[in-house]
Amino acid sequence: MNAPVPLSRWAGEGSSRVPFWAYTDPQLYRAELDRIFYGRHWSYVGLEIEVPNVGDFKLTWVGERQVILVRDRVAPKDRGTDHGLRVVENRCAHRGVRFCQQPHGNARSFVCPYHQWTYKLNGDLAGLPFKEGVKALGADGTECVQGGMPVDFDLKANGLTKLRVEVLHGLVFATFCDDAEPLRDYLGPEVLPWLDRIFQGRQLQLLGINRQRIPGNWKLMMENIKDPYHPGLLHTWFVTFGLWRADQKSRMVMDAHGRHAVMVSRRNDGGENKAVTQGVTSFKADMTLQDDRLLDVVPEPWWKVTDPANPGTEIMPTVTMITLFPSVIIQQQVNSLSTRHIVPRGEGEFDFVWTHFGFVDDTPEMTRRRLRQANLFGPAGFVSADDGEVIEFSQDGFRQWGEGGSTLCELDGTGTGGTEHMVTETLIRSMYAYWRRVMGV
Ligand code: FES
Ligand code: FE2
Repeated sequence: MNAPVPLSRWAGEGSSRVPFWAYTDPQLYRAELDRIFYGRHWSYVGLEIEVPNVGDFKLTWVGERQVILVRDRVAPKDRGTDHGLRVVENRCAHRGVRFCQQPHGNARSFVCPYHQWTYKLNGDLAGLPFKEGVKALGADGTECVQGGMPVDFDLKANGLTKLRVEVLHGLVFATFCDDAEPLRDYLGPEVLPWLDRIFQGRQLQLLGINRQRIPGNWKLMMENIKDPYHPGLLHTWFVTFGLWRADQKSRMVMDAHGRHAVMVSRRNDGGENKAVTQGVTSFKADMTLQDDRLLDVVPEPWWKVTDPANPGTEIMPTVTMITLFPSVIIQQQVNSLSTRHIVPRGEGEFDFVWTHFGFVDDTPEMTRRRLRQANLFGPAGFVSADDGEVIEFSQDGFRQWGEGGSTLCELDGTGTGGTEHMVTETLIRSMYAYWRRVMGV
């Protein structure tokens, strides 16, 4: 059951003025966990290549619930139909213990340390000590059984909570909800071509992981990657070197619900263009790199695709920032590729896990290049450190004002449709229009 939302007080119409309490109210945040993260939504939990062998597992999160992504054995008859990936909650069915403490590893089964209940990799309860009681001699010298579980105790009915799991292009998603729509339907036909473009069924290669805690509401991270307005203004790297700025050809795409989005764009050569650099303090005309390998961009064949919106035309974006509500961003920025997992930690904080990847058929040079360009991102990234900081500043601003304030998100009007430019806040508005419907506020 969804918890009632106690705070139905978004007075105005539309979604262009988000009340500050949407970011700061702890009760509303609890309701978001129920309705969004534990409701009819799919959450990203990791990459398939993070658990390559049977028994490999890693701890990950759906909302605030810690879960285990594990690769199970697959019966020969199920090969081809069963990917073998399971996601189970890290919470013992006995007395609720978060039993697994190792961030990743390999296991034959999971054993809770408290009373040694043992679970199979698929979350089934395999056994527990003293289930049938303990044999002892009674006072009259005859053998008897002391204690034990009730005779009708059913192992099958007392396993770990199992989540539904779907895998797309090596990205693993899970949901607590039995009637969530299939993953591909959930993502929608507008967004899927942009995922297909990056992955195309290729084998992924894990390049590295970094993580950070950002002191702001989790939605601010989604907003940040639905906000094409800021990159050419906040980020010196983007405006100066032309990686993302308002004089680029770009497009804002969203799914039919307005919850997922893709910001698609093509870099230019940067440098001076008065229309987008005049008065922009982050633009540093004289800035050059000591080590220009950081921007040693090499176009890759897969960048070029048939335009999903105009079949018959080819396009070649250099950047796609894909937000899959509510939990992940999948990004290509020139040669660097990453997933960015949002793990909420209360209304005013979230953890952010970056997983940088490439492809197994990359040349060693391309792998080096992807790793070097990954320096733009992550907790201390030349670009993304700026985002972490402004998200913190946003939360500070909301907190200091309190109940009555709201953001103003009306660049390019109050509409929520797609655009063929980036001078717009449409994707943020479309997400909040969806959020209002789900939250009933
Ligand atoms: Fe896990 Fe008792 S709490 S076995
Ligand atoms: Fe940014």
